[in-house]
Amino acid sequence: MDQPIAVIGTGYVGGVVAGALAYLGHDVVAVERDPEKLAVFQAGGVPVHESGLEELMAIAHEADRIRFVAEVKEIGNVDIVFLCVGTPQDRDGDADLTAIRQAAANLGEVVSGRTIVVTKSTVPIGTNFRVQLDVEKAMAATGREGSIAVVSNPEFLRTGTAVGDFLHPDRVVLGSDDEAAMATIVDLYQPILRQELPPGDPTGLPNSSAHLVTTDLVSAELIKYAANSFLAVKISYINEMAQICELVGADIETISTALGLDHRISPLFLRPGLGYGGSCLGKDLASLTLTARELGYSAPLLEATRTVNELQRGEVVRRLRRHLGDATSAKVALLGLAFKPGTDDVRDAPALHIAQTLHDAGLEVVAYDPVVRELPANVGIDPTTTTVAASIEEAVTGADAVALITEWPEFTEIDWPAIERLMRGNLVIDGRNALDPDTVRAAGLTYEGIGRPYP
Ligand SMILES: NC(=O)c1ccc[n+]([C@@H]2O[C@H](COP(=O)([O-])OP(=O)(O)OC[C@H]3O[C@@H](n4cnc5c(N)ncnc54)[C@H](O)[C@@H]3O)[C@@H](O)[C@H]2O)c1
Repeated sequence: MDQPIAVIGTGYVGGVVAGALAYLGHDVVAVERDPEKLAVFQAGGVPVHESGLEELMAIAHEADRIRFVAEVKEIGNVDIVFLCVGTPQDRDGDADLTAIRQAAANLGEVVSGRTIVVTKSTVPIGTNFRVQLDVEKAMAATGREGSIAVVSNPEFLRTGTAVGDFLHPDRVVLGSDDEAAMATIVDLYQPILRQELPPGDPTGLPNSSAHLVTTDLVSAELIKYAANSFLAVKISYINEMAQICELVGADIETISTALGLDHRISPLFLRPGLGYGGSCLGKDLASLTLTARELGYSAPLLEATRTVNELQRGEVVRRLRRHLGDATSAKVALLGLAFKPGTDDVRDAPALHIAQTLHDAGLEVVAYDPVVRELPANVGIDPTTTTVAASIEEAVTGADAVALITEWPEFTEIDWPAIERLMRGNLVIDGRNALDPDTVRAAGLTYEGIGRPYP
């Protein structure tokens, strides 16, 4: 490839895509409009907690194959552009396409000749057609000649394991109506599809199956939504079983183990807890539900999945009420803020909703997370609702109840007798069934898990 590849948006997805493409041997120009993130990348650092990304960037900088710029107009001549900007949920529950349409318009003001636009952002059905029109319209308005081909290339990486997921995927999905563009992008992915990676793969993972799925634009767009919605359905399903377990006196842990042993079901995404969170599952489920509704289908399964998730997030509050009554002066220590272990991502994290609800009920909320040291602005809750403590000990001192929200491995090592001495009360709510109930009880504490019979 003689021209560099442009990557627009360098968040969790774009940062990994940019670093990985450079690691695979391409020259990359990455655009990031957030000045703080940009400065970190330009200084050779990485602004997110993502295992292996620093190593990829080091390889890229060492080989002088990556540069970071603030605006699309600085990308220079490129013939492949990856769109990796955010598509957060808007007020109506649909994906907010402002960033992607803006990026497409900006692109149309700089590209000419043949350009392939690869959409990695998760976008509602039909968005890729709009992206193509936006680029073409801006090209026409600025008197540029050329042709645009759009390839939908949804991303399935998970925050926390993003580099490993990108370099060792289960599948690469490409959707386009332009055969030549499709062939170019298939070619680009060959080292990943063949699992023939250059030296220095920081993940240490074994080769994956890396299947290629090629299809049309709309099907590629829907694959992403269908995949995330299915994962959400699975989580809500096991959480509904957990609710039933508590009513009938059964143990969800045995039930989920038994279900997962069936290879048709698999044990993955079958862990009971406080429901799913993160930047993708809830947003994508909502967007797909809306698309279906707009087209006349009520999507009752998707709707019920969301309802169950909301119910599940209320479990900590319900348990506190049961034990503490309406005590408004109680202090609750939340263990974990990130939406799952291994990431600093708190977008739509159950912890935030729980913290806000507890705060609104007048309770004092102190949280500790091994990675999240402060609550970022714009995450949907008032950051003053929660004090972020510097240690577990600080968080639990004087607490009436401790609730484990994110199953960080270090929480399984907690010295419960020491915690018991620091607490005022004695309630431990294990929102992820990650603790050993006997160890917690042996410390003289009251243990409550999700979907498990009480002693
Ligand atoms: N995070 C995930 O696990 C994940 C997984 C698969 C797919 N996705 C999808 O990928 C997309 C990106 O997700 P993310 O988590 O990386 O989002 P993010 O918010 O972390 O990153 C998006 C980045 O794009 C930048 N940006 C926005 N508009 C820009 C512009 N015009 N020019 C330059 N930079 C711009 C933002 O500043 C931000 O840094 C979303 O559509 C998301 O749904 C995310």
